[in-house]
Amino acid sequence: MDKRSNLKKEMKAIGILGSPRKNGNTYFLLNETLNILSKELDTELVFLGDYSIGPCTSCLSCRETGECSIKDGMQEIYRKLFEADAIVLASPSYFGSVTAQMKTFMDRTWPLRNGRLKDKIGGSIAVGRRYIENTLVTLNTFLLRHRLIIGHRGVLGYAFEKGEITKDPEAIKMAHELGERMLELLQKFNRKPT
Ligand SMILES: Cc1cc2nc3c(=O)[nH]c(=O)nc-3n(C[C@H](O)[C@H](O)[C@H](O)COP(=O)(O)O)c2cc1C
Repeated sequence: MDKRSNLKKEMKAIGILGSPRKNGNTYFLLNETLNILSKELDTELVFLGDYSIGPCTSCLSCRETGECSIKDGMQEIYRKLFEADAIVLASPSYFGSVTAQMKTFMDRTWPLRNGRLKDKIGGSIAVGRRYIENTLVTLNTFLLRHRLIIGHRGVLGYAFEKGEITKDPEAIKMAHELGERMLELLQKFNRKPT
C-alpha cells in the first residue's frame, strides 16, 4: 500500500480558479495538479466566477471582529479555505498580474491575515503568453503572506488561445510536479493544520 494512502478522505485540497473562462488554459493546468492531489486527497475546484464576490471596501471592521463585514459569496469560500489542507491558486496573467477575480478574492482574505491559513500547503499556477512571472510572484507572495508552506516555485504555462496550453508539455509536467510536491509536504507534516 502507498504510504500516503492514509491521507485519503482525511484531508482536502482546493484549487481556486481565477480565470473567467471555466474551461480555459488555467483550468486545464489546475485540473492537472488537482488530479495528482486526488490520488490521496479529496479535491474541489472553486471557480470564482460562480460566486458573487465584491471588492474589499477597506472598512477595516475585521480589525475588531476578525470577520468580513461583507456578506456575499466569499463567506462560503472562507469555509472552504478553513477546511482545506492544501490550496492551489491559479490565474491567467492579465496585464502582467492576476485577474480582477483573483485579486478581489485575495483582498477579501484580509480578515484571515493573522495566521488563520497558517501551515496549510500552498501552490501557484500562472498562465499567459509572455512576461507572466509577475503573476506567479503575486500568487506566491499572497500564499506566503498568509504563512502557507510552499515547497515548489510554481507552474508557468505559456498559452494565449483557449486550448493552446495542451501544446506546452513542460507546463503540464510542472503541474504534475506541483501536485506531487504538495503531496510530499502533506505527508511530511501529516497533520491537520490548526
Ligand atoms: C484582459 C486581458 C489581459 C491579458 N493580459 C495578458 C498579459 O499581460 N500577458 C499575457 O501573457 N497574456 C495576457 N492575456 C492573455 C491571457 O493570459 C491568456 O489568453 C491566457 O491563456 C488565458 O487563460 P484562460 O484560458 O485560463 O482564461 C490577457 C488576456 C486578457 C483577456
